Amino acid sequence: MEGCLCLVTGPTSGIGRETARSLAVLGAHLVLACRDTAKGAAVRDDIAAETGNANLEVRKIDLADPASVRSFASEFTAAHPRLDVLINNAGVLSFRRRLTPQGVEAHFAVNVLGPFLLTNALLPVLKASAPSRIINVGSATHFSGHVDLDNLQGEREYRFLRAYSTSKLEILLLTYEFARRLEGSGVTVNCVHPGAIRTDLYNGLPVAFRFVKWFLRDPVTGAAPIVRLASDPDLEDVSGRYFDRLREARSAAESYDVDLAQRLWSACERLASSVP
Ligand SMILES: NC(=O)c1ccc[n+]([C@@H]2O[C@H](COP(=O)([O-])OP(=O)(O)OC[C@H]3O[C@@H](n4cnc5c(N)ncnc54)[C@H](OP(=O)(O)O)[C@@H]3O)[C@@H](O)[C@H]2O)c1
Repeated sequence: MEGCLCLVTGPTSGIGRETARSLAVLGAHLVLACRDTAKGAAVRDDIAAETGNANLEVRKIDLADPASVRSFASEFTAAHPRLDVLINNAGVLSFRRRLTPQGVEAHFAVNVLGPFLLTNALLPVLKASAPSRIINVGSATHFSGHVDLDNLQGEREYRFLRAYSTSKLEILLLTYEFARRLEGSGVTVNCVHPGAIRTDLYNGLPVAFRFVKWFLRDPVTGAAPIVRLASDPDLEDVSGRYFDRLREARSAAESYDVDLAQRLWSACERLASSVP
């Protein structure tokens, strides 16, 4: 990965942090896209000390806030003429229905709309850098999700696992739609389930659920499939696929619904233009 510019969202903990560390070991130039830049700077210093890689840059992004995503993208493209790998890793799992300050439900805002906007805003630089790769971090929980375009933000009914799983089904639908739209561009888009991993993701749950995390695998194991998708030369032309950890797999039947993916895409565009 020497000479490759990789952007990782949510590198301040868990799987994203390990992904950034592993890519630093491989010699990549890394942009750490963090909502808390002080936390990001501490992670940058740790990774630099551990790996000897000084090409680590911290930039501020709040994926819950479309204005922040847009200003991140314009500052990024002003500073960098190329981007080889975009890793949409940041995510949330929220027990209660939470709205962002912009009034968007948190799972939809951070796990779906934020990466949708960021990816679209960075497409020109990704295309200019082809062959380049986009990796969306999904989840096997998408199998229990269901997209209802009239209840996209849990307005009518909210169950936290359903909301999280549906957001992961949505990012998968958008992964496939991006792949269709990017066919022939040299930009690949894939989605990966990293496994059930012991991270802070579970901290937002009541104590009764949180203990589960101690039975899960470590973040290094969760980062491995993402790093592989970012770096394996054999995957350079592979696009529009779902990976369950290290293996390519079939995703839920609903994720292959092209009409649903296009309607979801339009709903994201409408919402993005109506949010300040
Ligand atoms: N852990 C699992 O078992 C598992 C399984 C399947 C999929 N995943 C997926 O893996 C990805 C990484 O999760 P994780 O398990 O590593 O969780 P984590 O340790 O909680 O890390 C989440 C990361 O996302 C960042 N983030 C949250 N909200 C953000 C926002 N509004 N703007 C920018 N960054 C934001 C966090 O930043 P702060 O440090 O500032 O909070 C943190 O860096 C997620 O997409 C998750 O859904 C996880």
